[in-house]
Amino acid sequence: MFEQLQPAKPDAILGLTEAFKKDARPEKINLTVGVYKDVQGQTPILESVKGAEAAILRDEVSKGYLPMTGLPEFAQVVQALIFGAGHPLPSSGRAVTAHTPGGTAALRVAGDFLRTMFPEAKVWLSDPTWPNHPGIFQAAGLPLEKYPYFDAATHQLAADSLLEALDRIPAGDVVVLHGCCHNPTGADPAEPLWGEIAQRIARRGLLPLIDFAYQGFAEGLEEDAAGLRTVVEAVPEAIICSSFSKNFGLYNERVGGLTLVGETPAAAQTALGHLKLAVRTNYSNPPVHGGAIVTGILQDAALRARWEEELAQMRQRINGMRALFVQTLADQGLSRDFSFITRQRGMFSLTGLTPDQVDTLREKYAIYIVGNGRINVAGMTPDNMPRLCEALVEVLS
Ligand code: LMR
Repeated sequence: MFEQLQPAKPDAILGLTEAFKKDARPEKINLTVGVYKDVQGQTPILESVKGAEAAILRDEVSKGYLPMTGLPEFAQVVQALIFGAGHPLPSSGRAVTAHTPGGTAALRVAGDFLRTMFPEAKVWLSDPTWPNHPGIFQAAGLPLEKYPYFDAATHQLAADSLLEALDRIPAGDVVVLHGCCHNPTGADPAEPLWGEIAQRIARRGLLPLIDFAYQGFAEGLEEDAAGLRTVVEAVPEAIICSSFSKNFGLYNERVGGLTLVGETPAAAQTALGHLKLAVRTNYSNPPVHGGAIVTGILQDAALRARWEEELAQMRQRINGMRALFVQTLADQGLSRDFSFITRQRGMFSLTGLTPDQVDTLREKYAIYIVGNGRINVAGMTPDNMPRLCEALVEVLS
């Protein structure tokens, strides 16, 4: 049977990481997958993570299965992180959280739940979006639609077209929003726009599904959750898919969370029962380690303070690289205006490079960026910046 298979298309992001690893050129630069690099170009293990892991090794007494929804304490700390300390939702019983292997599993479990329970619902994705979004929801069997999000000519969010599109989405459909640090554009709604988005979603009877993978990478933990909180306050029901890969640097531990808000505690519990069935058929129950680390850090005042400092350092380094990138391009004589890069947030920006220019960068200069022109700013360092900018100036001239 396998003899007849045609080769699979490489993944738009992880396929490039595989190609990068095989590239023997020592000067190669990887700005593809969204992984944070420090000033030395390494992806560090945070000290707060090491502290939590030491306590786990010391205190753990069993490797028995977790419940299908994971560690109960994890659900509490995740809800406090996304809704904010003292927010009424966690104590209302209207929010339930399952601990999942990464944000990807949270999205897939949400997709399976929606497809099984609401087979008529369509999923609306921003244009553009993370290339894995269509793959995940399609694999779950959900029909996909797009809403306009970004004006490539001005490098800005297309607010009017976005709001007009929301006004036309049929009731009962699902709208996927990026909580902050939009992937791939780096363009987020400002606060008044979040309010308008929330009002339209509420008025039209849509279900918001918020992908929240970069909390703390734009401005701060609270600031970055403001849009999500605005939406959740305006609507009776919502789904939030969190990832802790980036903000805790726990990429290979695969830790995320699926939080569902119901109109009543009873509705939330019923929905949780169906989510558990989706968990059971996907991976049965989550692995403990990453969830235990996140819980350990968020429950311990000293570890949490250390983590917040480390998160701020990552955020500041990325913002510093945004500024240095724009400055270095200008210093090297590029006439094209790249200043929009400093107005975007999080790890990513869309450069506006064409697929041919992306290919030239990779083939001639060993510089890897995603085919749609997305760069991972967190992969830039003061050391690789001059060569990166030189190559860009040549490719764009
Ligand atoms: C990215 O967009 O690069 C990250 O979300 C990592 C991934 O899995 O694609």
